[in-house]
Amino acid sequence: MSGQSKGYTNCKINIAIDGPAGAGKSTVARMVAGALGYIYVDTGAMYRAVTLRMLQLGIPPEDEEKVLQVAQKLVIELQPGEFGQKVLLDGADVTESIRSSDINANVSRYAQIEGLRALMVSLQRQMALRKGVVMDGRDIGTTVLPDAEVKVFMTAAVEERARRRFQELKNPESTSLEKLTRDIAERDRLDAEREISPLRQAEDAVLLDTTRMSITEVSEAIVRLCKAHGMERSVE
Ligand code: C5P
Repeated sequence: MSGQSKGYTNCKINIAIDGPAGAGKSTVARMVAGALGYIYVDTGAMYRAVTLRMLQLGIPPEDEEKVLQVAQKLVIELQPGEFGQKVLLDGADVTESIRSSDINANVSRYAQIEGLRALMVSLQRQMALRKGVVMDGRDIGTTVLPDAEVKVFMTAAVEERARRRFQELKNPESTSLEKLTRDIAERDRLDAEREISPLRQAEDAVLLDTTRMSITEVSEAIVRLCKAHGMERSVE
């Protein structure tokens, strides 16, 4: 937060945004980061980038040892871009390719691997060390940044989430709303039922059901939470 309010600390804080697929987390997180001058970290993109490389190399999620061996050497960079976050994998721009239906169908299977999660969590914690980060994912409030000053759990009805994803598709003829709804529900199930860091609302997270909220309303609500947090920290 860059605003100087007299008598209050203006220390940077960390903001954790978790929730199921298609709840609008990344758009909202980007807007909140923009409003506060913070850095946005899309942790889903990191799991997607790993999945892309594993599929390219034909390494199945069952071969955990090989997955880890390869993942440890990957260089994943998240850079602010003109149209959202740019994702680089070993220097190559994979922003588009990590959003394919193939990646959607497989990412949750790789994201269940304990060693891979440990690796990703440690990278994510490093990114948040200096504060001023808005991080979105599934386990940010519970595992990655349990001390984040503001935690939000964003959700929405599965049909609404599928509808939003459908509208974003560049070639909607490649699928159907019904299939998208089934795919999202299946990814939610895998993410919520896995043993390590399942998708779960942290006890101290604020629940935001966005089914009937616009993206702007949601991001304004989160910015208000951040400002309220700053005000609790009066130094006078
Ligand atoms: O957020 P996004 O839908 O891009 O995430 C893709 C997948 O990555 C999720 O379905 C989940 O399996 C995995 N993921 C995770 N933990 C995170 C972020 C994403 O397991 N913090």
